[in-house]
Amino acid sequence: MPGRGVGQPLKAEAHPCNATGVHGLLEDAEPSIDWDALTFSFKKTDRMYLATCGQDDEWQSGQMQDFTDLSMSPAAGVLNYGQGLFEGMKAQHAADGCIVLFRPEMNATRMQEGARRLGMPPVPERLFLDAVHTTVRENARWVPPIGKGALYVRPLLMGSGPILGVAPAPEYTFLVYVSPVGPYFKGGIRPISLKISDEFHRAAPGGSGGVKAIGNYAPGMIPSKMAKGEGYAEVIYLDAVHHRYVEEVGAANFFCVKDGVISTPELTGTILPGVTRASVIEIAGSRGFEVREESIDVEYALDADECFCAGTAAVVASIGSIEHDGRVAEYSGGEVGPITMELYKALTAIQQRRAPDDFGWTVVVE
Ligand code: PLP
Ligand code: COI
Repeated sequence: MPGRGVGQPLKAEAHPCNATGVHGLLEDAEPSIDWDALTFSFKKTDRMYLATCGQDDEWQSGQMQDFTDLSMSPAAGVLNYGQGLFEGMKAQHAADGCIVLFRPEMNATRMQEGARRLGMPPVPERLFLDAVHTTVRENARWVPPIGKGALYVRPLLMGSGPILGVAPAPEYTFLVYVSPVGPYFKGGIRPISLKISDEFHRAAPGGSGGVKAIGNYAPGMIPSKMAKGEGYAEVIYLDAVHHRYVEEVGAANFFCVKDGVISTPELTGTILPGVTRASVIEIAGSRGFEVREESIDVEYALDADECFCAGTAAVVASIGSIEHDGRVAEYSGGEVGPITMELYKALTAIQQRRAPDDFGWTVVVE
């Protein structure tokens, strides 16, 4: 299929969708995929978006093209110095037949903040959203049926131009691809077992932990692999200064509940400001819970009544136990805690439009 220019502003207002999805685009052949066996893994889809920006820091409106490998200089800034960011969001079939995104403008803003931190030209919000909508629309047949998973949307921003000195690259690429995904943690809603890492940290003050820099993730692979080798689903990181305050769960934000009060680590610059985290805080507040954004001492977390983590991929995932320094804390008798369950249900009902979206967070893919 030839490349097609995009860049027409999208209309913000919702429109009724037919049962097959967006403007009949799902009439294309069903992909041969077992929707019941979806895992969180990459599956090649049909189309991707790509835009570039040169030294004038002006983004040109991009092109849709068939999904393909990239070609770039071995001296590209991203390959040599990790000048890159990614984002993650989900498109889902909603109960009303629409395909919807969840707060994509927050991902656009977060990518802009990350771009500033890594010396890259921020992608204009309009261009970002247009690219996301168009990529989802042109891959609409890959959106799983309601309740079977989601189409994970992965925007990438990287220094694609050649540079030998450690400095911002002379050219940037912004692209969006998608992949249908199932649950992030094996076992779906079943509570996960986590291990607190004393050996490794994810981020330090003044570093890049508060943005979605690609370079934040490779150092977490070995800690995660080691924990998985011991039977845990993931690691929990503590802060790098005091080695005592809970920061994050691999690629999701941490929450705990004690005596009905919900706590989550405050945003100090070393924690990623999750879209799901912000949404859970608002949902919980609207349901009358006291929510505290504060430093969470590891001992407080171990003594909590319930713990869970929250993220786009993880959604709201119940934590059944946490190991630290030989001690194992178990929560809610291995079941999903009642407040965790309430928040999971409330969040997913909004995301799939099974409940009124009073916050106005879901956006129909146009
Ligand atoms: N923390 C980290 C390190 C992440 O990679 C993610 C995933 O995006 C999150 C938290 C959760 O953020 P969000 O809810 O925006 O997906
Ligand atoms: C997300 O939740 O979108 C993430 O970024 C997790 C990802 C690292 C798999």
